[in-house]
Amino acid sequence: MNVIDLRSDTVTKPTAAMREAMARAEVGDDVYGEDPTVNRLQERVAALLGKEAALFVPSGTMANQVSLGVLTRPGDEIVCDSGAHCISFESGALAALWGVQARTVAAERGLLDPASVEALIRPDLYVYPRTRVIEIENTHNRGGGAVYPLERVRALGELARRRGLHLHLDGARLWNACAATGVAPADYAREATTVSVCLSKGLGAPAGSLVAGPRELVTDARRLRKRLGGGLRQVGILAAAGLFALDHHLARLPEDHDNARRLAEGLAALPGAALPFPVETNLVFVAFAGRSAADVSARLAGEGVLASPEGSRPDLLRFVTHLDVSRADVDEALRRAARALR
Ligand SMILES: Cc1ncc(COP(=O)(O)O)c(C=O)c1O
Repeated sequence: MNVIDLRSDTVTKPTAAMREAMARAEVGDDVYGEDPTVNRLQERVAALLGKEAALFVPSGTMANQVSLGVLTRPGDEIVCDSGAHCISFESGALAALWGVQARTVAAERGLLDPASVEALIRPDLYVYPRTRVIEIENTHNRGGGAVYPLERVRALGELARRRGLHLHLDGARLWNACAATGVAPADYAREATTVSVCLSKGLGAPAGSLVAGPRELVTDARRLRKRLGGGLRQVGILAAAGLFALDHHLARLPEDHDNARRLAEGLAALPGAALPFPVETNLVFVAFAGRSAADVSARLAGEGVLASPEGSRPDLLRFVTHLDVSRADVDEALRRAARALR
């Protein structure tokens, strides 16, 4: 029985054509700034996001953390959603690496609204931490793949500028937000000082993320990347996968969104199942009344369907569609789920 792996869009394997592009990549020592393929990828992503410069880093976690590191000093505070990836799933990096704390809002579907954020900005008095950054995540993972309306991001950008703060955009799945809305990446990115994007999620590359922003901040980010051990050498091999992904996998993201909607409809029809969030992109959250997520995922695994228990609630599972899941796989997963949960 083939396994249908719906745990995450990070589980994709590089295609044969992507591997060929990687094998052919022209490379150099990127710590010297001499890898032509990395340089091409950085220029391309900077242009896509309308930023002066971009920097290749190994992971989305490093992209978020070097961004937050260059924008803050120890003792500073960021304002973000309580389920934000940068404070929930990055091993405490914000506190451990930069000595920075987070002031959080339990935002609906993880999408911040300017009034709640403004209420949390500290007055300029020496007894308080200094609020420096508003952090947003688009799409929002724990919010069920929720997409920020552009107007909301514009309002948050306006608030950040008015209060002398930076906006950081965790765009690990910004490509999905753009595919769902038709908004250009640069239009979302315009409102943010720094933006992180991932190549290894919906785009299907084996590794790699980028930080984009003003040139001098990207220079600072390069220093922090080196400090964290993220300065790699002939890393054009990975950058080539990223360029290939932008050329060949960006335009197909709507297929993942269609598959996610189909999967969600089928799962919602199972006994006791409910969708806590509308499905806008490639993430599907499902709660099963009277069953624990651990039990459901074990039953599904017995039928060769993998899903992730979502830690924020004991009854919630996350299913993710991606490059390695076809429409036929979705239909097969639904047949198997019906057997597993009857
Ligand atoms: C919204 C978001 N930001 C950042 C990351 C971190 O990416 P990585 O796993 O490459 O460190 C993830 C990973 O899933 C994510 O979902």
